[in-house]
Amino acid sequence: MDINVEKINSLKGEIEIPADKSITHRAFMFSALTKGKCRITNFSQGEDCISTLKIIEQLGCDIIRENEKELIIDAKNAIKAPCVPLNCGNSGTTTRLISGILAGQNFNSKLFGDESLSKRPMKRVIAPLELMGANFIHNDFRLPIEIKGSILKGIDYISPLASAQVKSCLLLAGLNAEGITSFTEPYKSRNHTELMFEYMGADIKDEGNRVSVKKSRLHPVDITICGDISSAAFFITAALIVPNSDIIIKNVGINETRSGILDVYKSMNADIELLNERIVSNEKVADIRVKYSDLKSTVIEGSLIPRLIDEIPVISVAATQAEGTTVIKNAQDLRNKEADRITAVRTELNKIGADIEETEDGLIIQGKTKLTGNAECECYHDHRIAMSEYVAGLISESPIRIKEFQWVNISFPEFLNLFEQIYLY
Ligand code: S3P
Repeated sequence: MDINVEKINSLKGEIEIPADKSITHRAFMFSALTKGKCRITNFSQGEDCISTLKIIEQLGCDIIRENEKELIIDAKNAIKAPCVPLNCGNSGTTTRLISGILAGQNFNSKLFGDESLSKRPMKRVIAPLELMGANFIHNDFRLPIEIKGSILKGIDYISPLASAQVKSCLLLAGLNAEGITSFTEPYKSRNHTELMFEYMGADIKDEGNRVSVKKSRLHPVDITICGDISSAAFFITAALIVPNSDIIIKNVGINETRSGILDVYKSMNADIELLNERIVSNEKVADIRVKYSDLKSTVIEGSLIPRLIDEIPVISVAATQAEGTTVIKNAQDLRNKEADRITAVRTELNKIGADIEETEDGLIIQGKTKLTGNAECECYHDHRIAMSEYVAGLISESPIRIKEFQWVNISFPEFLNLFEQIYLY
């Protein structure tokens, strides 16, 4: 589905953002390990999370859909050997986290995915899991892979990457491994696994960049999932750059390990206010008020990167409207996402009038530039690139065309409907 996006006058009103994708994956997978019943309220309906849900069903969970927003996962018969190879679709999180669960089982399993996922690196989880005693059959560390169930032992792993996917994979393997499994990363990545493990009674010690878990059982709980700040990011950015905007985004997760975008925008002079802060199922949540702002440039690097890794494409759009030069560094791993997001951002935003230079590990963005539009943008089968282009289209002088916009369904099928609720033409 190709779409046209045109300039709008302002964004006004209130919206509620759908559930967090990272937390939904975890709620589904961790529930599968409880041997009991968990009620999950407000889960992500994106294709990635549905891939995870189907996999836990194939591993023996009964899924009872209570209504559109609520389901019960009954894990009394889970987890058991799947009858078929497991399809991870487009989802790196599904692949990497489920590998940690499957590696320590007494059965074998196979994982495969779509074309984009089959190109993404899995060595980052296969290598440390092998150190724990896991057994894989693979071709150059890419999907499809076969996992031979093995007895695992804990390791003390020092990761060269700050990665919540690798960390979560090892902590999940650690639940079922002899001794203690520790993971140390250069900077703290998102800590939803740590918080949910704590909430479900695992024996976990979180010391910031180092986290350890002992062999333990997860207990069944009810989980209510907050809105996804990575989805809110598109609305926050749009309101900052479309003149006269003033919106409230309700029920957004503001966990510190995810909210780097708010800190960066505040340092860029953004008018952003947090309202009604609260804790829901062990996660911090707030409503966010955002008004059009006169943005200044900034530097984004080091420990900030894992706190906003998925938001860099849309922050780049904001940077084109900020006075001065914005520099993004230490973001090399952006090249290993659903697409090479460094090249994608530079190529596609420059097509519509931005002035962006690509470096090996980031971007240099000049502002303030007029986005001229009047071009056809590719999204490289990447949902976040498609949605970032859409936000750029809202301030482009002439309309832009985005090809294959259906890729947004990976994380955010409600995207266009929600934008339509707050437009003023
Ligand atoms: C995720 C972690 C991040 C992020 C991805 C979701 C998670 O990946 O980019 O969209 O849910 O753990 P890395 O851990 O590879 O940085």
